[in-house]
Amino acid sequence: MKRVLLIIGGGIAAYKCLDLIRRLRERGHHVRCVMTKATQEFVTPLSVGAISNEPVATDLFDLDAEREIGHIRMAREADLVVVAPATADLLARMAQGHANDLATAVLLATRATVLAAPAMNPAMWSHAATRRNVRQLETDGVKFIGPNTGEMAEAGEAGVGRMAEVAELVERIETLLAGDDETGRGLGFITVSSKRERAVAPLPLAGRHVLVTSGPTHEPIDPVRYIANRSSGKQGHAIAAAARRLGARVTLISGPVQIPDPEGVEVRHVETAREMLEAVEAALPADVAIFAAAVADWRVATPGRGKLKKAAGAAPPQLELVENPDILRTVAKRGARRPELVIGFAAETQTVVENAQGKRKSKGVDWIVANDVSEESGVFGGERNRVHLVTASGVEDWPDMSKDEVADVLLRRVSAYLAESRESV
Ligand code: CTP
Repeated sequence: MKRVLLIIGGGIAAYKCLDLIRRLRERGHHVRCVMTKATQEFVTPLSVGAISNEPVATDLFDLDAEREIGHIRMAREADLVVVAPATADLLARMAQGHANDLATAVLLATRATVLAAPAMNPAMWSHAATRRNVRQLETDGVKFIGPNTGEMAEAGEAGVGRMAEVAELVERIETLLAGDDETGRGLGFITVSSKRERAVAPLPLAGRHVLVTSGPTHEPIDPVRYIANRSSGKQGHAIAAAARRLGARVTLISGPVQIPDPEGVEVRHVETAREMLEAVEAALPADVAIFAAAVADWRVATPGRGKLKKAAGAAPPQLELVENPDILRTVAKRGARRPELVIGFAAETQTVVENAQGKRKSKGVDWIVANDVSEESGVFGGERNRVHLVTASGVEDWPDMSKDEVADVLLRRVSAYLAESRESV
């Protein structure tokens, strides 16, 4: 068990801390929270206290709390101090070494590593004063995660300033607690670099082409009937959108789905596995190919030209099935124009990881994202996903996340991988 001291800053993103506390406690950590005066405008000490199952420290001059624990002891006992959301004001006070409230006093008194998750309006984030404060804090040894690019709470605002997602925070906190942090390199999270131009730095997948397959395929039996599966396309479409957000040119080859095309992405709509393969081949070359589609393994050998009719007393038609081309295998095993990184999905209902490991090798794939699609998991058609990332170096179990979060974390990993392989050339 590790002791995390969470300083919740006064910003809209404060509500995410409730989920963060829950996730950290699920992993067996002890979470003690400090709230500033401003924070209490966004979340209440009551809810934070209930979720953390600990008294919440809110005021430097709270005599009861001082008698019970004292801010110096609280600062000393922590294995890690997390500031989330780290508002512009809090960062400024940290950079100046203020100690005029409990949050800043604890930050000044602690010897533990401090991780800050900034969240603010993009204009505030890119302001020279914030840049200066972040540089100072980095020099002082403060670690940063995010902010991410995306929509802001204010209607119509977008840019760099969203607080890192809870799943990212949890992963980074675990890395820091384990003592093997490399500023998020392994996990591919966007971290604040010490470069002055951080706020206007090119997006990490700018200049890259990412190819994604998504959705089911429909294999015709006759002009009105087909063989299909329960894939909704939500995960694949979320991946295409995440790649786009990170600046990639994205081609999405989609089977028949009921969801809209992601914005800014070139979409090819197909029906069958053979059409999907043709569209994938036409879209190559790509730097990265991610095969999230649930492609039908078989098709009907000779679909009826006209609608199959039932005749009184006649036996039902016998459908002869033949195997469809394996699109993933075809792309992963091609010599010329093989994407640098080929990622497959493994939809399994039993021995999920073992089957995925087998699939990774036999299909010649770099990474497999394995998930349990048994009926109890609710993954097919649902909003959430719990996946395992299987690579040559092992298996990572990712926490339960929304499909959008899985997509974001995956694409950040992809960016980190490409950046590293570019550096090592
Ligand atoms: N895939 C593909 N083309 C196919 C079948 C699968 O590109 N004809 C891809 C999927 O997009 C996914 C991966 O292969 O990325 C794994 O698919 P899955 O259906 O889980 O595995 P299969 O190889 O079909 O094996 P099985 O059905 O026996 O589990």
